[in-house]
Amino acid sequence: MVKTAVCGVFAALLATQVLAQGAVPTPERSAQLVRMVRQDCGSCHGMRLTGGLGPALTRQALAAKPPEYLAAIITHGIPGTPMPPWSAMLNSDETLWIAQQLVNGFPEESKNHAP
Ligand code: HEC
Repeated sequence: MVKTAVCGVFAALLATQVLAQGAVPTPERSAQLVRMVRQDCGSCHGMRLTGGLGPALTRQALAAKPPEYLAAIITHGIPGTPMPPWSAMLNSDETLWIAQQLVNGFPEESKNHAP
C-alpha cells in the first residue's frame, strides 16, 4: 500500500519533469540519436565534436548558447553555409533533446545500454 503511494508520487514527479522539458526520447531512440550525432554531425563538427568544417559543439563552446537557439539551427540549418537542415530526420522534441545534450556535454556512444 505505502509502496504503491510512493510509486505514484514518483511517477507524478517524473511526468511533470518530462512535460517541462519536452518529451524525452525512449532509451532506444536516444541511443540512435547519440550515434547519429557522433557520426553524421561528427563528419563536419569533428568526431570528438571539437570542430572541423563546422565549429566545436562541446559544452565549453556552447556554454553561452540557449538550447532553443541551437535547436532552431539544427532544425533549419544555416542557409549559405554547409550546415544543413535536419527537420526531415528529427522531430522537434528530438532536436531539443540533442541541443540539451550538447549544452550539457554530449554523451558517448554506448553499445550495451542507453546513455
Ligand atoms: C555538411 C557539414 C555539416 C553537418 C553534417 C552538420 N553541420 Fe552543423 N554546422 C556546419 C557549419 C559549417 C556550421 C557553421 C556555419 C557558419 O555559421 O558559418 C555549423 C553550425 C552548427 C551549429 C551552430 C554552432 C554555434 O556555435 O552557433 C550547430 C548547433 C550545429 N551546426 C549543429 C549540428 C548538428 C547537431 C548536426 C547533426 C545533426 C550538424 N550540425 C551537422 C556544418 C555541418
